[in-house]
Amino acid sequence: MSRIAIYPGSFDPLTCGHVDIIRRGLAIFDQIVIAVAVNIRKQPLFSLDERLAIIEDEFQGHDGVVLDTFSDCLLVDYARRKGAVAILRGLRTSGDFEYELQMTHMNRTLAPTIETVFLAASPQTTHISSSLIKEVARFGGDVSSAVPDHVARRLSARFPS
Ligand code: COA
Repeated sequence: MSRIAIYPGSFDPLTCGHVDIIRRGLAIFDQIVIAVAVNIRKQPLFSLDERLAIIEDEFQGHDGVVLDTFSDCLLVDYARRKGAVAILRGLRTSGDFEYELQMTHMNRTLAPTIETVFLAASPQTTHISSSLIKEVARFGGDVSSAVPDHVARRLSARFPS
């Protein structure tokens, strides 16, 4: 039986931090479902279709990576439907830890059989967040070390100098 993990997030846009967690997660799980969330609390820069296209560009032809969306449901219900054994999350800082621990405990209460597995973000990615990347790109800063090349090109097109 294949071990499936859900890697959920807004991915607005995908960063090198996300890519780091997904690639390393593939050494643990047979399949990672990258689940792009429609988060009503966030106003995305990139549309859902654009966010999906970005992830597809990055992981095209990559065995073990499946791309999907989810909205209007609990993450654990979605994970159950996909037959997942785990939710995969990255930890960058102690700030992430506080937030993630609360979500983990809530998810565990709702679905005791679905584990949350944390990977410590690689040191070169701990300063990266999608919001920071968008802010730096908006003001013409160089984000090439923090996002894949094709994402940097999309950001330049969105914020021409
Ligand atoms: N490297 C770089 N950045 C990272 C990262 C890493 N390893 N890990 C997280 N991030 C960043 C993301 O880029 C994002 O940045 P931003 O806020 O600047 O956009 C931020 O950390 C966290 O966002 P994200 O991972 O997209 O998660 P989220 O907080 O937007 O959504 C869900 C988390 C989708 C998992 C959560 O909202 C959810 O479960 N929703 C479904 C409803 C539900 O079940 N609710 C109950 C939960 S207990």
